[in-house]
Amino acid sequence: MQNFEFFTPTKILFGKGAVADLPTEIKRYTNRVLLTYGGGSVKRLGIYDTVTNLLKQNGIEYIELSGIEPNPKVESVELGTKLCRDNNLGGVLALGGGSTIDCSKVIAGAVGYNGNAWDIVLNPDKIKSVLPIFTVLTLSATGSEMNGNAVISNMQSNDKKGVYHIDFKPKCSVLDPEYTFSVSPWQTASGTADIMSHIFETYFNKTKGTMVQDNIAEGLLKVCIENGKKAFDNPTDYTARANLMWASSLAINGLTGMGKSGAWSCHAMEHQLSAYYDITHGAGLATLTPAWFEYVLNDDTVDKFKSYGVNVWGIDSSLDKYEIANKAIEKTKNFLFNDLKLPKTLKEYGIDETYLEIMAEKAANEGLKYAYKPLEKKDVLAIYMSCLG
Ligand code: NZQ
Ligand code: ZN
Repeated sequence: MQNFEFFTPTKILFGKGAVADLPTEIKRYTNRVLLTYGGGSVKRLGIYDTVTNLLKQNGIEYIELSGIEPNPKVESVELGTKLCRDNNLGGVLALGGGSTIDCSKVIAGAVGYNGNAWDIVLNPDKIKSVLPIFTVLTLSATGSEMNGNAVISNMQSNDKKGVYHIDFKPKCSVLDPEYTFSVSPWQTASGTADIMSHIFETYFNKTKGTMVQDNIAEGLLKVCIENGKKAFDNPTDYTARANLMWASSLAINGLTGMGKSGAWSCHAMEHQLSAYYDITHGAGLATLTPAWFEYVLNDDTVDKFKSYGVNVWGIDSSLDKYEIANKAIEKTKNFLFNDLKLPKTLKEYGIDETYLEIMAEKAANEGLKYAYKPLEKKDVLAIYMSCLG
């Protein structure tokens, strides 16, 4: 295990009705916030009314930014930044999924920067200050509610870039599983695949001696497999939604990834799919992951696949290790493509060979020479091609 610092300053308010305590947390920092949300699901669900009533009752003023799109665009960041500056706001409160939260984080970082918001996405060292961020999570997937990452798209240049800043970690996040009852089967499936991918990205790693991280990872993967399917089949299963929600936060808050180094492969490859075709992030990961598994399985990696097969899928440990690895990959495919009905091929999104070369080059340049199995452009292209269908 390598040296690491673990810092998770986000206060989590978890459970039914937990939002009631949010104003107290906001008032520790400010009484004027930018209230951000997406295409309107929070209004239909009554979450918007609940939150705005609480803000009013507690004397917290707010200005709204609505319409933040899935795969949030840099233009939305610019709009929110202007609202914060023009109204002298002291914090950002995001109601929604990863897209709304990520956009809000970069708004919070752009307010104190005198230039284009895209500059700070490309180079977070330019961030001078970050307004306090608060979130009310409505979709279990990205873990943005408890980490310092944000992912923003620039469709002018077909770029989708991740940016990290320690102060992007929210001050407080509300996790009420009931708020996710209305999440569609498609988003539930995609979210589950995203959570699992966050775990895979650090589980399949070359650093040795990380038993704590690996055991937590295997446990969280089992949680996703059991509860992802339950929530997909029965959207109002509170226990399934609650477990999925907490798993989403823990999968990517550092708990499973600290003490390890290396690059994330499937995320680098998926971000290109979203950048060129604006597809749903978790679904894209689901399509790529089994193909990546098959590509990286070799004598160096087979023992980790054996652990995955035995500890997560309960495959008989006395079998040959390659047999276990291949069975584990088959079980993963069955879960993602049959149980969760996610797309098996890129064709299902309307993706053909047109941009695969440039996408492969851009993905490889996201540090994939440091990945679990180092990947060059030709490797990424081969993985994309194997998913084409
Ligand atoms: O826009 P609204 O109306 O809110 O509808 C959303 C949106 O259409 C809907 N939705 C959200 N909560 C709902 C709901 N519909 C019904 N009931 C609810 N309770 O779901 C749709 C997708 O929402 P979005 O926020 O885009 O989904 P997600 O949470 O999966 O976020 C995806 C974005 O996060 C990035 C992805 O790349 C993508 O841009 N990621 C962020 C990460 C991070 N910050 O750490 C890590 C991830 O790997 C990921 O890259
Ligand atoms: Zn992800």
